[in-house]
Amino acid sequence: MAFGHIPQTFIDELISRVDIVEVIDSRVPLKKAGRSYTARCPFHNEKTPSFSVNPDKQFYYCFGCGVHGTAISFLMDYEHLEFPEAVEELARGMGLTVPREKGSGGGKTNSRRDLYDWLEEATRYYQWALAEHPQRKAARAYLEEQRGLNAEVIERFRIGYAPPGWDNLLRKLGGENARQPLMDTGMLIQQEGTNRVYDRFRDRIMFPIEDRRGRILGFGGRTLGNDTPKYLNSPETLLFQKRHELYGLRQAAERGRSPEYVLIVEGYLDVVALAQYGIPHTVATLGTATTAEHLKRLFRITPQLVFCFDGDRAGRAAAWRALEASLPELHDQRDVRFLLLPEGEDPDTLVRVEGLEAFSTRLRQATPIIQYLLEVVRAQVDTERTDRQARVVELVRPFMAKMSAGIYRTFLIRELAELTRITPDALSKLVQPKTVTHSKTPAPTGERAGRPSPVRAALGLLLMRPDLAELVDDPARYAGYEVPGAKLLGEVITLLQTQPNLRPSAILEHWRGTETEQHLAQLAQWTPLVPEEGMATELKDVLKRLEQQALEQETTRLVDKARISGLAGLADTERMRLNQLLSRKKAGAAIKPGG
Ligand code: UTP
Ligand code: MN
Repeated sequence: MAFGHIPQTFIDELISRVDIVEVIDSRVPLKKAGRSYTARCPFHNEKTPSFSVNPDKQFYYCFGCGVHGTAISFLMDYEHLEFPEAVEELARGMGLTVPREKGSGGGKTNSRRDLYDWLEEATRYYQWALAEHPQRKAARAYLEEQRGLNAEVIERFRIGYAPPGWDNLLRKLGGENARQPLMDTGMLIQQEGTNRVYDRFRDRIMFPIEDRRGRILGFGGRTLGNDTPKYLNSPETLLFQKRHELYGLRQAAERGRSPEYVLIVEGYLDVVALAQYGIPHTVATLGTATTAEHLKRLFRITPQLVFCFDGDRAGRAAAWRALEASLPELHDQRDVRFLLLPEGEDPDTLVRVEGLEAFSTRLRQATPIIQYLLEVVRAQVDTERTDRQARVVELVRPFMAKMSAGIYRTFLIRELAELTRITPDALSKLVQPKTVTHSKTPAPTGERAGRPSPVRAALGLLLMRPDLAELVDDPARYAGYEVPGAKLLGEVITLLQTQPNLRPSAILEHWRGTETEQHLAQLAQWTPLVPEEGMATELKDVLKRLEQQALEQETTRLVDKARISGLAGLADTERMRLNQLLSRKKAGAAIKPGG
């Protein structure tokens, strides 16, 4: 929509020239340790360095908290930049200009930076209106008397007022010039079938939603009365995605780099009231469930999170979703807790009635995540039932699958062992994820012991030595293999054959923002136990194993099908294929997977 896309070729070029060690070292001083460099991780609190930068692969990885990525990701995370900004920043450092592909919409467009400026203008206008507009009285009375907010906190959160009227923004912010940017930021609504536009927010208290750097992304607007909706929010725009943003993040993060904990609540006014009453490290999701993206942002600020929800059904459901989202992010240095309030109360009402002391006591008594999980499991498993063990195992298996090894996992296993009277060892085995048939990409290395699967081994080798890709004939065939991850392997090989000079980090950039990127990043941590000169042979062996695996997989599928529906249930081609496959072992015939 608004601005030109950065061509992938430029990203490749940039990555091929950049030195990640330099980029990181200028921000976080690195120490050389063997072939790589280390530091204390800038993304979580730690005493001993577990953050490692690999100059060969041009990656960083933290063994403590699991952050990883390329020079671009580092700038995004460390400097809180969006992707295009991080690219600009890197390019600037190397004296390169970022080319832009033509935007698809054509016509006049606004850069992201301009859009921030327009929203800043709107915020100032709403702040002015709350202070000076002739019709401000009801809004002030609402905030000060009904909600009991003081001037300081109103200022700190830049709360304002959108006065009644349909065209305030256009008139105050510069007429027709402002029209497109205000449309792009969701501040104006176009009347159906006409060219006319009008203000989205009218006669509402305005809560600006800021990013961590204080740039305005959108607004929540509360009615003064009982109209519906109670809160009107900015729509999703180029700048604003509800699933990513948190209300109050700037304020929660600004007093010192790392608060001891951050409290996550449900409403705008909960954040504001808690800040006024002396609990400043509070954020709210914007009417959505907690997402992985939220958690990543929060864990950059603090190692400890406390989720605070209403104790009603909806609140318990929200807590459960937050728990599910948290498990994959849980590491030994992190701490997640849950505080369920008495039904019908929210933090805003409670802290006013009880005061800071009592609310802080509740906070200190919040339930640690594993204990909370166990409480829910206990409540769901009928203690009288004989199949209780099986029920517990079924219930926790999906959760265990999301947890990495560590203290939390060990502790959970121990507690569950007690609950089910199965030994911890046996239980560990029982809650292993079932076979990975549903996962399209290979599982990360390091999770399961033993030899990596052929796909993972091949990807690992190629991420170490991209030049080996030229040894592979016809990579397109892997798309037809019935093996998880084989298709991706084919794609990586094809990419490397077309662009032989790509660095490992550049490979990752081709999958930025996808689940595949995560898998590749993890595979890139794996170092094959093969000497440099043996790697070509190793790749060939691994690919041969993959072919065998594909043939076996195909055979199994056809045999199963025949078993269920009888040979007659197979199509002619399938029956022929099955014959061919079954005879291959006897004859040692050369058959290719995928028919
Ligand atoms: P609540 O209904 O709990 O409201 O919504 P609240 O924050 O306690 O508001 P007050 O105290 O009545 O003013 C919690 C959150 O859900 C989203 C908002 O983000 C709100 O802060 N919400 C709620 C909406 O987006 N729209 C609505 O109409 C209601
Ligand atoms: Mn409320």
